[in-house]
Amino acid sequence: MKRRYARIVATGSALPGRVVTNDELARELAGRGIETSDEWIVARTGIRQRYIAQPGVGSAELGARAAQTALQSAGLAVDSVDLIIAATSTPDQIFPSCACLIQARLGHPGCAAFDVQAVCSGFVYALAVAESMIVAGKHRRALVVGTEVFSRILDWNDRSTCVLFGDGAGAVVIEASDQPGIVASELRADGSQAGILCAAGRISHGAIEGTPYLAMDGQAVFKLAVSALGASALDVLAQAQVKTAELDWFIPHQANIRIMNAIARRLGLPDSKVVATVDRHGNTSAASVPLALDVAVRDGRIRTGDLVMLQGVGGGFTWGSVLLRW
Ligand code: ACO
Repeated sequence: MKRRYARIVATGSALPGRVVTNDELARELAGRGIETSDEWIVARTGIRQRYIAQPGVGSAELGARAAQTALQSAGLAVDSVDLIIAATSTPDQIFPSCACLIQARLGHPGCAAFDVQAVCSGFVYALAVAESMIVAGKHRRALVVGTEVFSRILDWNDRSTCVLFGDGAGAVVIEASDQPGIVASELRADGSQAGILCAAGRISHGAIEGTPYLAMDGQAVFKLAVSALGASALDVLAQAQVKTAELDWFIPHQANIRIMNAIARRLGLPDSKVVATVDRHGNTSAASVPLALDVAVRDGRIRTGDLVMLQGVGGGFTWGSVLLRW
C-alpha cells in the first residue's frame, strides 16, 4: 500500500499596520526614562523593527487574514478544509479557542477547530499534530495558523524584554498526498524549565493574580535554545536518513539572529541557508516560523523539491523540528 503523506500546498501571512523601528521605540522608552538604542538591539538580537497591532486587532483577526491569504495562494475555497489548528499564547479570550474564532471569521462552521499552546514552538507543534491527523486518515486538508499579539503581554517598562517581540500571523494549507511532504518531525518539552520564560499571571475570581507580563531569563533561554535545537535537528535528519549538507533551507524560530546563527554553525550550515526575518518582524512567537516560511516561498527562494527544516523553541520549555520536502 502507498504511504500517505501530508504536504504543505500554500502559505500566507498577515502583519498589522504599525511598524515601529528601533529608533522610534528607543524614543518612546526615553520619554519614560528608559534607555535603549538601535545599536544595542541590533547587536544583541538582529532586530531592526517590529509590527504592533492596533487596539482592537487580535490574534483571531490576524490569524484569519493569514489563513485567507494561504487559501487564496492555493486557489482553494475555505469549505474544502476539514481541520483548523491555531497556535497562540495570546488568544483573544480565555475561551472559545482562537481556532474557533478564526473559523467563524472565515465563515466555515462545522470543521474541527482547536488551539495548541506551546508558545514559540506552537506552530511546529501544530504542524506536526495536523500531519499526524492527516496521515492517520481522519482529515484531508487543514489550515495551520500561528498568530500572536505579544505586544499585549509585554511590560513596556522592561527594556530587556519589550524590545524583542512583535505581532503578526502566518498560516499554511496542508493536505493529504501520496508524495512527501513532511518526512520527519520531533516534538520535545522540559516542564522543569517553566520559570525561565513565562507569563505566570492568571485570572481568578475576576482578578489577575501574579504578573500578567512576559518574564525571561535571557541567558538561560539562549543556552537552552541553542543546545536543544542543535540536537533536535540532528535527530530529525537521522530519522529521515538525510545528511545536513542536503538541507536547502533552515527556518528556525525567529527570536534572535545570534541564536539562529549559533545553531546553524553547530550544524555546519552556511548562513546563506538560514531564512531570517527577525530583522523586520522581531520575535512573533508562534507566528515567526510560518511568517518566515511565507516570505521565503513568495520571494522564490524555496522551490519544488527543496529540503526544508522548520524549528520552534520557546516557553515550557518546548522545542521541536519538522523536516519537509517542498
Ligand atoms: N537596551 C540597552 N541595554 C539593555 C537592554 C536594552 N534593551 N536590555 C538589557 N540591557 C542591558 C542590561 O541591563 C545589562 O546591563 P548591565 O551590564 O549594566 O547590567 C546589559 O544590557 C547586558 O544584559 P544581558 O541581559 O546580560 O544581555 P545579553 O547579552 O544576555 O542579551 C538578550 C540579552 C538579547 C535577551 C539575550 O540574553 C538573548 O538573546 N537571549 C535569548 C532570549 C531570547 O531571544 N528571547 C526571545 C524570547 S524566547 C524565545 O522566543 C525562545
